[in-house]
Amino acid sequence: MSLSLNGRTALVTGGARGIGLELTRQLLARGCRVIVVGQNQTRLATLERDFPGAVISRRADLSSPAEVDALVVDLVRDHPAIDILINNAGVQREMDLFALPPTQATAFARQEIATNLDAIVALTLGLLPVLARHERAAIVTITSGLAIAPKAASPVYGATKAAARSFTRALRYQCSRAAPQVRVSEAIMSLVATDMTAGRGSGKITPAQAAAAVLAGLERGQAEIWVGKAKLLRLVNRLSPAFAARLLR
Ligand SMILES: NC(=O)c1ccc[n+]([C@@H]2O[C@H](COP(=O)([O-])OP(=O)(O)OC[C@H]3O[C@@H](n4cnc5c(N)ncnc54)[C@H](OP(=O)(O)O)[C@@H]3O)[C@@H](O)[C@H]2O)c1
Repeated sequence: MSLSLNGRTALVTGGARGIGLELTRQLLARGCRVIVVGQNQTRLATLERDFPGAVISRRADLSSPAEVDALVVDLVRDHPAIDILINNAGVQREMDLFALPPTQATAFARQEIATNLDAIVALTLGLLPVLARHERAAIVTITSGLAIAPKAASPVYGATKAAARSFTRALRYQCSRAAPQVRVSEAIMSLVATDMTAGRGSGKITPAQAAAAVLAGLERGQAEIWVGKAKLLRLVNRLSPAFAARLLR
């Protein structure tokens, strides 16, 4: 089921920086209103100033369950027009588990789990009734090749992405039965040149290319949107999961 984006109201978490900023720009160019959630007030204010009337911003620290709960209450009350939810915000910590003091490693891990998993689940569940009231609606969650197999350096990040992938799939099953008008997609992202990957990796695509691929998949109503080199990973993983795991490790 294809989805036309013109005239829709999209909520983009982390929509003022990196891939999220490009998603915001490209959604605006397709005629959407965009509600942008982020933690940096300056970046949010700049977006609102640059796109008066088309962007509404809401500051929230998504690593705080209390702030996420308050955000959901505000969104449900003030923005019943939301018909697209893009779970994009994320944080990745490289952790040497034998070098970091355990209390520090645990604090990093909790921040990743709260931002990359807890917030996605809470926002999705909180907004599901709002989305289901529309004739057509969509939820897109950005995961990673590391949802397929982990890399050693980011053990908790990979775990949150695998969990987000599993949650998204089960949500898709439930929506296809109880609310088929709500399309549930996962975008499996490849390496993108953003702050998250600064100073590491090669062959990165631009945030603009990443966002364009996500929105094209959303318009086509794809359940799984494999972006850039993630397409190759999908193939390799089908042929040999052990080889794919070695590649990502
Ligand atoms: N870049 C890659 O190669 C790559 C690969 C695979 C998957 N991904 C995924 O793609 C998504 C976007 O990543 P990116 O590369 O664009 O990362 P990024 O440049 O580091 O940007 C992260 C975004 O998430 C927001 N964010 C982080 N922590 C937050 C918090 N506690 N509360 C509210 N917002 C928070 C940031 O908002 P502020 O600016 O307000 O801090 C920012 O907009 C993430 O889910 C990431 O895991 C990226």
